[in-house]
Amino acid sequence: MKNDIPNHIAIIMDGNGRWATRQGLKRQEGHYAGYKRLKKTALYILDKGVKYLSVFAFSTENFKRSKEEVDYLMNLFIKAFKSDKNFFIKNDIKVVFSGRKEPLSDDVYNVMKEIEKSTENCKKGVFNVCLNYGGQAEIVDSTKKIVKLVQDGKLNIDDLNEENYYHYLYNDLPEVDLLIRTSGEVRISNFMLYSISYAEIYFTSTCFPDFDELEFDKALEDYQNRNITKGSVK
Ligand code: FPP
Repeated sequence: MKNDIPNHIAIIMDGNGRWATRQGLKRQEGHYAGYKRLKKTALYILDKGVKYLSVFAFSTENFKRSKEEVDYLMNLFIKAFKSDKNFFIKNDIKVVFSGRKEPLSDDVYNVMKEIEKSTENCKKGVFNVCLNYGGQAEIVDSTKKIVKLVQDGKLNIDDLNEENYYHYLYNDLPEVDLLIRTSGEVRISNFMLYSISYAEIYFTSTCFPDFDELEFDKALEDYQNRNITKGSVK
Protein backbone atom coordinates (compact mmCIF):
# COMPACT_ATOMS: atom_id res chain seq x y z
CA MET A 1 0.00 0.00 0.00
CA LYS A 2 1.44 3.36 -0.97
CA ASN A 3 -0.68 6.24 0.18
CA ASP A 4 1.71 8.97 -0.72
CA ILE A 5 1.38 11.45 -3.50
CA PRO A 6 3.88 10.78 -6.29
CA ASN A 7 6.59 13.42 -6.48
CA HIS A 8 6.84 13.37 -10.28
CA ILE A 9 4.09 12.39 -12.70
CA ALA A 10 4.53 12.18 -16.47
CA ILE A 11 1.64 12.02 -18.94
CA ILE A 12 1.56 10.87 -22.56
CA MET A 13 -1.46 12.88 -23.69
CA ASP A 14 -2.75 10.61 -26.45
CA GLY A 15 -6.07 10.35 -28.27
CA ASN A 16 -6.93 13.95 -29.17
CA GLY A 17 -7.41 12.99 -32.82
CA ARG A 18 -9.60 9.96 -32.10
CA TRP A 19 -11.66 11.92 -29.59
CA ALA A 20 -12.39 14.51 -32.28
CA THR A 21 -13.05 12.04 -35.11
CA ARG A 22 -15.53 10.08 -32.98
CA GLN A 23 -17.62 13.22 -32.62
CA GLY A 24 -17.35 14.27 -36.25
CA LEU A 25 -14.92 17.07 -35.41
CA LYS A 26 -11.60 17.96 -37.03
CA ARG A 27 -8.40 16.60 -35.42
CA GLN A 28 -7.43 20.17 -34.59
CA GLU A 29 -10.51 20.52 -32.42
CA GLY A 30 -9.29 17.50 -30.49
CA HIS A 31 -5.98 19.24 -29.84
CA TYR A 32 -7.80 22.34 -28.66
CA ALA A 33 -9.97 20.26 -26.33
CA GLY A 34 -6.78 18.54 -25.11
CA TYR A 35 -5.22 21.90 -24.35
CA LYS A 36 -8.29 23.05 -22.38
CA ARG A 37 -8.30 19.79 -20.46
CA LEU A 38 -4.58 20.03 -19.76
CA LYS A 39 -4.96 23.38 -17.99
CA LYS A 40 -7.63 22.04 -15.63
CA THR A 41 -6.12 18.63 -14.96
CA ALA A 42 -2.57 19.98 -14.53
CA LEU A 43 -3.75 22.49 -11.94
CA TYR A 44 -5.67 19.76 -10.11
CA ILE A 45 -2.61 17.48 -10.07
CA LEU A 46 -0.28 20.19 -8.77
CA ASP A 47 -2.88 21.29 -6.19
CA LYS A 48 -2.84 17.71 -4.86
CA GLY A 49 0.81 18.20 -3.92
CA VAL A 50 2.53 16.61 -6.90
CA LYS A 51 5.73 18.66 -7.27
CA TYR A 52 6.68 17.85 -10.86
CA LEU A 53 4.37 17.26 -13.80
CA SER A 54 5.81 16.40 -17.22
CA VAL A 55 3.62 16.26 -20.32
CA PHE A 56 4.32 15.06 -23.87
CA ALA A 57 3.06 17.98 -25.97
CA PHE A 58 4.93 17.32 -29.22
CA SER A 59 7.40 14.60 -30.15
CA THR A 60 10.25 14.95 -32.65
CA GLU A 61 8.29 12.42 -34.76
CA ASN A 62 5.17 14.64 -34.72
CA PHE A 63 6.85 16.85 -37.34
CA LYS A 64 5.99 14.07 -39.82
CA ARG A 65 2.27 14.91 -39.49
CA SER A 66 0.49 17.05 -42.10
CA LYS A 67 1.67 20.64 -42.40
CA GLU A 68 -1.83 21.78 -41.47
CA GLU A 69 -1.77 19.84 -38.18
CA VAL A 70 1.82 20.83 -37.29
CA ASP A 71 1.06 24.51 -38.03
CA TYR A 72 -2.10 24.32 -35.94
CA LEU A 73 -0.24 22.88 -32.95
CA MET A 74 2.64 25.39 -33.25
CA ASN A 75 0.15 28.29 -33.33
CA LEU A 76 -1.69 26.78 -30.37
CA PHE A 77 1.59 26.67 -28.41
CA ILE A 78 2.32 30.31 -29.28
CA LYS A 79 -1.18 31.51 -28.29
CA ALA A 80 -1.35 29.36 -25.15
CA PHE A 81 2.06 30.25 -23.74
CA LYS A 82 1.34 33.94 -24.34
CA SER A 83 -2.17 34.00 -22.92
CA ASP A 84 -1.51 31.61 -20.01
CA LYS A 85 1.54 33.37 -18.61
CA ASN A 86 -0.51 35.02 -15.85
CA PHE A 87 -2.37 31.76 -15.16
CA PHE A 88 0.95 30.09 -14.30
CA ILE A 89 2.23 33.05 -12.29
CA LYS A 90 -1.05 33.33 -10.34
CA ASN A 91 -0.96 29.62 -9.53
CA ASP A 92 2.75 29.78 -8.63
CA ILE A 93 3.74 27.18 -11.25
CA LYS A 94 7.19 27.18 -12.79
CA VAL A 95 7.13 26.26 -16.49
CA VAL A 96 10.13 24.58 -18.12
CA PHE A 97 10.57 22.92 -21.52
CA SER A 98 12.36 19.77 -22.56
CA GLY A 99 13.36 19.12 -26.15
CA ARG A 100 15.51 20.30 -29.03
CA LYS A 101 15.40 23.82 -30.45
CA GLU A 102 15.73 22.77 -34.12
CA PRO A 103 13.49 22.93 -36.18
CA LEU A 104 11.17 25.01 -33.96
CA SER A 105 10.54 28.50 -35.33
CA ASP A 106 11.82 31.52 -33.43
CA ASP A 107 8.19 32.54 -32.83
CA VAL A 108 7.55 29.36 -30.84
CA TYR A 109 10.97 29.34 -29.18
CA ASN A 110 10.72 32.97 -28.04
CA VAL A 111 7.38 32.48 -26.23
CA MET A 112 8.81 29.36 -24.59
CA LYS A 113 11.82 31.34 -23.30
CA GLU A 114 9.54 34.18 -22.20
CA ILE A 115 7.23 31.99 -20.09
CA GLU A 116 10.22 30.15 -18.57
CA LYS A 117 11.72 33.47 -17.52
CA SER A 118 8.44 34.90 -16.18
CA THR A 119 7.76 31.85 -14.01
CA GLU A 120 11.30 30.99 -12.91
CA ASN A 121 10.71 32.00 -9.28
CA CYS A 122 7.36 30.19 -8.91
CA LYS A 123 7.43 27.65 -6.12
CA LYS A 124 4.31 25.43 -5.94
CA GLY A 125 5.26 22.99 -8.63
CA VAL A 126 7.15 22.50 -11.88
CA PHE A 127 5.32 21.99 -15.16
CA ASN A 128 7.71 20.39 -17.66
CA VAL A 129 6.40 20.66 -21.21
CA CYS A 130 8.13 18.20 -23.54
CA LEU A 131 8.00 19.89 -26.92
CA ASN A 132 9.98 18.71 -29.93
CA TYR A 133 11.06 16.02 -27.51
CA GLY A 134 12.46 12.52 -27.97
CA GLY A 135 13.78 10.28 -25.19
CA GLN A 136 16.69 8.87 -27.19
CA ALA A 137 17.57 12.39 -28.39
CA GLU A 138 17.65 13.51 -24.74
CA ILE A 139 20.14 10.77 -23.85
CA VAL A 140 22.29 11.61 -26.90
CA ASP A 141 22.19 15.34 -26.07
CA SER A 142 23.15 14.69 -22.42
CA THR A 143 26.02 12.50 -23.56
CA LYS A 144 27.30 15.34 -25.76
CA LYS A 145 26.95 17.79 -22.85
CA ILE A 146 28.90 15.42 -20.59
CA VAL A 147 31.69 14.83 -23.15
CA LYS A 148 32.12 18.60 -23.55
CA LEU A 149 32.30 19.13 -19.78
CA VAL A 150 34.90 16.37 -19.49
CA GLN A 151 36.94 17.81 -22.39
CA ASP A 152 36.82 21.27 -20.79
CA GLY A 153 38.05 19.81 -17.50
CA LYS A 154 34.77 20.71 -15.73
CA LEU A 155 33.68 17.15 -14.96
CA ASN A 156 35.66 14.11 -13.91
CA ILE A 157 34.12 11.19 -15.79
CA ASP A 158 34.60 8.93 -12.76
CA ASP A 159 32.21 11.17 -10.81
CA LEU A 160 29.32 10.43 -13.19
CA ASN A 161 26.76 7.97 -11.83
CA GLU A 162 23.13 6.93 -12.19
CA GLU A 163 21.91 9.54 -9.67
CA ASN A 164 23.76 12.60 -10.92
CA TYR A 165 23.14 11.76 -14.60
CA TYR A 166 19.81 13.58 -14.13
CA HIS A 167 21.73 16.89 -13.90
CA TYR A 168 22.67 16.55 -17.57
CA LEU A 169 19.19 15.87 -18.98
CA TYR A 170 17.23 18.78 -20.54
CA ASN A 171 16.07 19.76 -17.04
CA ASP A 172 17.44 18.58 -13.74
CA LEU A 173 14.21 16.94 -12.52
CA PRO A 174 13.86 13.92 -10.23
CA GLU A 175 12.93 10.45 -11.47
CA VAL A 176 9.33 9.87 -12.60
CA ASP A 177 7.20 7.95 -10.06
CA LEU A 178 4.06 7.50 -12.13
CA LEU A 179 3.70 7.48 -15.92
CA ILE A 180 0.18 7.79 -17.34
CA ARG A 181 -0.79 7.17 -20.96
CA THR A 182 -4.29 7.91 -22.20
CA SER A 183 -6.31 6.52 -25.15
CA GLY A 184 -5.62 2.79 -24.83
CA GLU A 185 -2.21 2.60 -26.52
CA VAL A 186 0.21 0.50 -24.49
CA ARG A 187 3.60 1.91 -25.49
CA ILE A 188 6.27 4.25 -24.12
CA SER A 189 6.84 6.00 -27.48
CA ASN A 190 10.31 7.32 -26.67
CA PHE A 191 9.12 9.36 -23.68
CA MET A 192 11.53 10.26 -20.83
CA LEU A 193 13.45 7.01 -21.23
CA TYR A 194 16.06 7.69 -18.55
CA SER A 195 13.68 9.17 -15.97
CA ILE A 196 10.95 6.50 -16.13
CA SER A 197 13.33 3.62 -15.32
CA TYR A 198 11.50 2.75 -12.07
CA ALA A 199 8.14 4.43 -12.73
CA GLU A 200 4.81 2.73 -12.14
CA ILE A 201 2.84 2.79 -15.40
CA TYR A 202 -0.89 3.39 -15.70
CA PHE A 203 -2.71 2.94 -19.00
CA THR A 204 -6.29 4.10 -19.51
CA SER A 205 -8.55 3.87 -22.56
CA THR A 206 -9.87 7.39 -21.84
CA CYS A 207 -8.77 9.85 -24.54
CA PHE A 208 -6.86 12.86 -23.24
CA PRO A 209 -9.64 15.47 -23.73
CA ASP A 210 -11.73 13.39 -21.29
CA PHE A 211 -8.92 12.86 -18.77
CA ASP A 212 -10.50 14.96 -16.03
CA GLU A 213 -10.11 15.16 -12.25
CA LEU A 214 -12.08 11.92 -11.68
CA GLU A 215 -9.97 10.04 -14.22
CA PHE A 216 -6.83 11.32 -12.55
CA ASP A 217 -8.10 10.21 -9.14
CA LYS A 218 -8.56 6.69 -10.54
CA ALA A 219 -4.94 6.66 -11.71
CA LEU A 220 -3.77 7.94 -8.32
CA GLU A 221 -5.81 5.36 -6.43
CA ASP A 222 -4.42 2.59 -8.63
CA TYR A 223 -0.89 3.83 -7.92
CA GLN A 224 -1.52 4.09 -4.20
CA ASN A 225 -2.84 0.53 -4.07
CA ARG A 226 0.26 -0.95 -5.61
CA ASN A 227 2.84 -2.70 -3.54
CA ILE A 228 5.95 -0.68 -4.19
CA THR A 229 9.06 -1.45 -2.20
CA LYS A 230 12.12 0.58 -3.02
CA GLY A 231 15.15 -1.61 -3.46
CA SER A 232 13.24 -4.71 -4.55
CA VAL A 233 13.67 -5.97 -8.10
CA LYS A 234 11.81 -3.22 -9.89
C1 FPP B 1 -1.54 13.00 -29.32
O1 FPP B 1 -2.85 12.73 -29.75
C2 FPP B 1 -1.45 14.40 -28.93
C3 FPP B 1 -0.61 15.32 -29.49
C4 FPP B 1 0.33 15.01 -30.58
C5 FPP B 1 -0.63 16.72 -29.04
C6 FPP B 1 -0.87 16.92 -27.58
C7 FPP B 1 -1.09 18.35 -27.34
C8 FPP B 1 -2.00 18.86 -26.47
C9 FPP B 1 -2.83 18.04 -25.55
C10 FPP B 1 -2.12 20.33 -26.35
C11 FPP B 1 -1.09 20.82 -25.39
C12 FPP B 1 -1.07 22.28 -25.36
C13 FPP B 1 -0.12 23.00 -24.75
C14 FPP B 1 -0.23 24.47 -24.81
C15 FPP B 1 1.01 22.40 -24.03
P1 FPP B 1 -3.07 12.24 -31.25
O2 FPP B 1 -3.27 13.44 -32.11
O3 FPP B 1 -1.93 11.37 -31.65
O4 FPP B 1 -4.38 11.44 -31.13
P2 FPP B 1 -4.76 10.15 -31.99
O5 FPP B 1 -3.76 9.07 -31.66
O6 FPP B 1 -6.14 9.82 -31.53
O7 FPP B 1 -4.70 10.55 -33.44
